[in-house]
Formats: sequence, structure tokens, C-alpha cells
Amino acid sequence: MTNKSSAQQFEGAGTQDRNLAMELVRVTEAAAIGASEWVGLGEKKIADGAAVDAMRGFLHTVHMDGTVVIGEGEKDEAPMLYNGERVGDGLGPKVDVAVDPIDGTSLTAMGYNNALSVMAVAERGSMYDASSVFYMEKMVVGPEAADMVDLRLPVKQNLQLLSKALNKKISQLNVCVLDRPRHKGLVREIREAGARVKFIMDGDVAGGIAAARHNTDVDILLGTGGTPEGIITACAIKATGGMIQGRLAPVDDEERQKAIDAGHDLDAILTTDDLVATQNCYFAATGITDGDLLRGTRYSSNRIETQSIVMRGESGTVRLIEAEHRLTKWKKDN
Ligand code: FBP
Repeated sequence: MTNKSSAQQFEGAGTQDRNLAMELVRVTEAAAIGASEWVGLGEKKIADGAAVDAMRGFLHTVHMDGTVVIGEGEKDEAPMLYNGERVGDGLGPKVDVAVDPIDGTSLTAMGYNNALSVMAVAERGSMYDASSVFYMEKMVVGPEAADMVDLRLPVKQNLQLLSKALNKKISQLNVCVLDRPRHKGLVREIREAGARVKFIMDGDVAGGIAAARHNTDVDILLGTGGTPEGIITACAIKATGGMIQGRLAPVDDEERQKAIDAGHDLDAILTTDDLVATQNCYFAATGITDGDLLRGTRYSSNRIETQSIVMRGESGTVRLIEAEHRLTKWKKDN
């Protein structure tokens, strides 16, 4: 009997499995281009709708038997990309699909930096069920500090451990935090510990990836953001290395009860593996507006240029992909 690696055991694994990563980028490119037509026009919902339409138009070409587990909501409120929707050509590997046609809808509508189109795919049944609690407390770091910091520790202690792991003074550490009133106490603790806060207005998927990747100006991401975004970030971290920890953060008693009824332990620290229980996962993102992670979608008289990042958990490969799309051919041939 031969020993199969986990990649080979993954139904549909092999060369086609590798290609999946490259197929996903066409989907995020399409969504980013769809959204980019609405950058700066103040129309969050329309921009999101354009990205959803474009994403869905391409998803059926992807060689996978996918089920959306993180989508635009329940079927009755989301006509497209709803949770439970089957996507892909139905023939390839059986996978969970997480889509975020725009991470940063307000950023897109306001023309601010850092809006992305994002999607992640992982072996069927491996993505954490994020349906009962919208927010999660998060901590993301790169590989050097992955085994040292812990969400249960006080902020100051984590920053001391991080400074040791990175061989940097605490005063040189940049902590990425969503700019929200709920983070007032966290921000105070970070500054009292002597570190710097790098606020982001939205988009903690990009913030988390910046914390996990080398050569960025972010050393750690802290604070509370969307649970779905945490799971999508975990798919990327499987490739970049590093770790994400999360703790569900219900907003009220009703959500707390819903989570308990769904069997969640609200005190549990969710690890990268809890959020995505496989290495067989993929992440793709394309820039809508310019950002720290990716350049935004650009138009010239006859071309649309996109920049994307594609990652594959099994191999740990991270690829940056620049594409030029001929304006006249874009809608017709893609
Ligand atoms: P949307 O683009 O869906 O609005 O999400 C943007 C985002 O900033 C996420 O990146 C983040 O996880 C979440 O919103 C935080 O939620 P809130 O804006 O309610 O604080």
C-alpha cells in the first residue's frame, strides 16, 4: 500500500488542483474590475452588486464542485453567492468556497485605498462555520512570532514577546488596528506599551496578510473584525506562514445565545487550523483601489490593468500576478 500525501487524498488533487489557484484569480480580477467602475461614486450597494455579478459570471468556469460557505448571506436576502449556493463547473474537487467580492465596500465607494476583491477555497468541510457570530477578536502575526504570542495574554506582554521574536524594539513595532470606537481601550494599551498604531479604515483581510507577510510595515494585527474575514485570512496564512488566533465576539445576548445553541465555545481560542482545517486551500485577491498589498485596478484608453495575489496552502507559494485586459475584448471573451 502506498502512502498518500494529504494533497493526493484531496479529491481531484494533482495538476488540476494546482491550476485551481490560477483559476481563482480570474474570478477576483473580474470582481475587482466590476467594482472598479464604481470607485468614488458613493454607491456602496451598487459597487458590491457589480462585484458580485462579475464574480458569479466567472465562478462557473472554475473547475471545482464548490459550495459557498461564506457568501453574501442567506438565500432569501442574497440572490447571488448566497450561503449554500453550488458554484464552479461541478466537476473538480469538492470544496468550501468563501467569497468577499469587495473587502472594503465603503473604501470603494469613497475612493479610499486598500479595497480588494477576495476569495478563498478549501477542502470541503474544512472551513469554520462562521454563521452565528459576526465578529471575532483577532491576532495575526508572521512565522517568527507564531509560537510566542497568545490572544489570552495581555496586550503589553504580547508586544514584548513580539519584539523579542522580531528582534525589534517595542517602539519600532507597528500594530494594525481597524479604526473603530470599540478599539479605544486596545489602542490605549498598545500605546502605553510603547508600540505604534497603524489604523486601517476597513479591510482587515489585507491588514492580516500584511501582519503575516515579511517586508511590510505591519508587525501584528489586533482587534475585532468580521469572522468571515478571519477565515479567509486563515486560508492565506496557510500559505504565508504565521498564525491567526480568534475568539468569537457576540455583539449582544441574542447573538451569544445563537452561538451557544450552535455549539460554539465563546471562550475558545480559535487557531489557524480551527478556522481552516486543511493545508489544501487557496486564496486569491485583486486590488480594486491602490493599497499596501496590491495596486488597484487601472484603466487606460484600451486596457484594464489588474494586480492580484494568489496563494496555495499546500505548497506555501505566494504569487503576484499582473494582468492586462483588452477593453474591447474584456466583456466579450472573458
Ligand atoms: P465590508 O467591505 O464588507 O464592509 O467589510 C469591511 C470590513 O472592514 C472588514 O474587513 C472587517 O472585517 C469588517 O468590515 C469590520 O466590520 P465593521 O465595519 O462593522 O467594524
